Amino acid sequence: MIFYFSATGNSLYAAKRFSDTPVSIPQIMRGTERQFSDDAIGIVCPVYAGEPPKMVKRFLRESSFQADYFYFVLTYGFDQTDAPEFTAKLAAEAGVHVDYIASIQMVDNYLPVFDMDEQMSMNKHVEEQLSAAVRAVSRRERGIPEATEEGRKLHAQVSAMNRERPAFNDGSQITVQDSCIGCGVCQSVCPVDNFYLEGGKAKRKQSTCEFCLACAHNCPQKAIGLSIADKNPNARYRNPHISLQEIIDANRNP
Ligand SMILES: Cc1cc2nc3c(=O)[nH]c(=O)nc-3n(C[C@H](O)[C@H](O)[C@H](O)COP(=O)(O)O)c2cc1C
Ligand code: SF4
Ligand code: SF4
Repeated sequence: MIFYFSATGNSLYAAKRFSDTPVSIPQIMRGTERQFSDDAIGIVCPVYAGEPPKMVKRFLRESSFQADYFYFVLTYGFDQTDAPEFTAKLAAEAGVHVDYIASIQMVDNYLPVFDMDEQMSMNKHVEEQLSAAVRAVSRRERGIPEATEEGRKLHAQVSAMNRERPAFNDGSQITVQDSCIGCGVCQSVCPVDNFYLEGGKAKRKQSTCEFCLACAHNCPQKAIGLSIADKNPNARYRNPHISLQEIIDANRNP
């Protein structure tokens, strides 16, 4: 059994290497089933500022798992800081013992800092990393990579910054431009149902936001921008092996 959260397809692509039928965490969180049992249970998700996404943390806290082997696969882009160590600690606090964590470096989809054209031109040896992780899980390897002191420090700094300026990551920075054609894709890919259509244009509800950037990356018009920095507003990303429909199926509300 493998669960995933994915905004731009990296984590879904990784999850599909472990199971033909990975289960979407946003869909699970819309239902009531919270008890899961299998020989091995895995969670694949991106690293956001050194941590799993908020919804994944909630999924961990609210679920009970029975498994002989529990693992995480964290996808990240540039610097995961102390994410594996932090995630194992977080899981332990939720009563889940994590046996193994693999981190896979892929395209970094964080638009304020990275140009997607540049990211997509880089060879991060994703297939080699994924094959190694699949091999390790199939052998039921154990181990959580220990973080460096710099990694822990950087994560702490970013967390402090987010605490001081919550608007920096609460989605109020996400803006819909006039080029919006009202196609509704943003509404379908948002895991927290943040959009509605009015007068043929998308509008954002000021509710909770994962800052996952699924809306910005998957908008066919590139009509969703950021009022904070947007390194290259003309470049957006979806993992080339994952279709828009798969992101919609993963994240859409009923
Ligand atoms: C809000 C946000 C924060 C991120 N923080 C980090 C980070 O701290 N370190 C890192 O290496 N990548 C970071 N990333 C990049 C993603 O972890 C990476 O691109 C991931 O593979 C995306 O997965 P997905 O395609 O399944 O959504 C961040 C991305 C977003 C949107
Ligand atoms: S995906 Fe883009 S074009 Fe389509 S409704 Fe949303 S903002 Fe408008
Ligand atoms: S509004 Fe955009 S960034 Fe926020 S949760 Fe929805 S898709 Fe993700």
